[in-house]
Amino acid sequence: MNLQAAADALQAARHVCVLTGAGASAESGVPTFREALTGLWEQHDPLELATPEAFQRDPELVWKWYCWRRELVSKASPNAGHYALVALAQKVGMLTLITQNVDGLHQLAGSDSVIEYHGNLFENRCFAGNCDVSAADLSVASPTCPHCGACIRPGVVWFGEAIPDHAMEAASLAAGDCDVFLSIGTSSMVWPAAGLSEMAQANGASVVEINPDATASTRPAHYAITGKSGVILPKLLAMLGA
Ligand code: OAD
Repeated sequence: MNLQAAADALQAARHVCVLTGAGASAESGVPTFREALTGLWEQHDPLELATPEAFQRDPELVWKWYCWRRELVSKASPNAGHYALVALAQKVGMLTLITQNVDGLHQLAGSDSVIEYHGNLFENRCFAGNCDVSAADLSVASPTCPHCGACIRPGVVWFGEAIPDHAMEAASLAAGDCDVFLSIGTSSMVWPAAGLSEMAQANGASVVEINPDATASTRPAHYAITGKSGVILPKLLAMLGA
């Protein structure tokens, strides 16, 4: 029932705003943040490695973890959910895609103008400032900035860090303007991303959630659809005649 109601809302929508989280990449083999790590990294908590404090304490360890994630992600391919969002953008008047994922899989599937709320896994930055780090030697255990000597870090947003201004502005604008807000594969536990659906709802949008498990957004959502994004999104698309 919620599936049909969500399809009807999408059909009538002027502007659809989509927020994806780690669950959208789960079917591509990229582990979510709430899953325990296995193998080499089973002793570590991803929620603790993804902080500036962890990097300050042990830059080599955190860099190594990100190198492992880069390798894992570079072998991953977009799944049916990623492709369904590309098709959905062609089906509705306007679609803004905001992702908390840093893996680039939406872009690889063909989505344009993706708002990367938490940055990009494959970019590098100087831990001390805005130096150009393109000439850094990344083959060493703990790469350093060729200009100031500080450590090189991945271009992602860590816990406790601010969202890049351009992403924050564009995402808030879209959430405030849309008439349907689709929350896909996110635990809705990490702020400020978790506040986007509330912002949309406060501005009169219908909120649709797609997740196999209940989250903080399930109860307030108008239409909560239980299931995997790689299964549900293609179904929704089919109901829209795409
Ligand atoms: P989480 O790892 O917190 O949550 C993943 C969500 O995906 C859970 O609610 C799962 O139930 C759901 N899920 C799992 N498999 C799914 C599937 N096949 N289809 C749909 N949903 C599925 O990930 P996020 O909510 O993205 O931030 O976490 C937000 C942020 O916390 C991340 O961007 C990252 C992390 O720490 C930073 O690094 C700053």
